[in-house]
Amino acid sequence: VEETLVLIKPDGVARNLTGEILRRIEAKGYSLVDLRMLQADRDLLAQHYAEHEGKPFYEPLVEFMESGPIVAIRLAGNRVIEGFRSLAGATDPTTALPGTIRGDLARDWGLKVQQNLVHGSDSPESAQRELALWFG
Ligand code: GTP
Ligand code: MG
Repeated sequence: VEETLVLIKPDGVARNLTGEILRRIEAKGYSLVDLRMLQADRDLLAQHYAEHEGKPFYEPLVEFMESGPIVAIRLAGNRVIEGFRSLAGATDPTTALPGTIRGDLARDWGLKVQQNLVHGSDSPESAQRELALWFG
């Protein structure tokens, strides 16, 4: 069965949305295989976001992800990579469709990085790589 890495980012934890986000994932029918709460260090985040190094939002993104605890989830189900990204909605919370996690629960706060509550792996290769990083 396919697996993906989901992260509830520091804004989701700080805003007490962990339960609401988990509720949506479980209501959709995906299976929680493993879950942990941690404070990510720079080394982990640099590896996780290697593809974005050099982009203008990279430094604010890493600082934001370091700013508080994150909930990391190993999630399983047929086509869960595509399915979770559909549940999450578009990267930009302003245009993310209502009905999605980002569309319903996130907004633009005028900050240097988009605080969009969740991360989901974007391909089977990313999922494998990211699950190894966050769950060893
Ligand atoms: P993730 O699931 O978090 O990886 O989101 P994504 O796949 O929808 O976006 P992507 O991997 O392209 O970017 C990672 C994160 O960087 C996003 O979730 C945003 O927090 C931030 N980000 C991406 N693009 C932009 C941008 O154009 N401007 C700003 N300010 N932040 C961005
Ligand atoms: Mg991404």
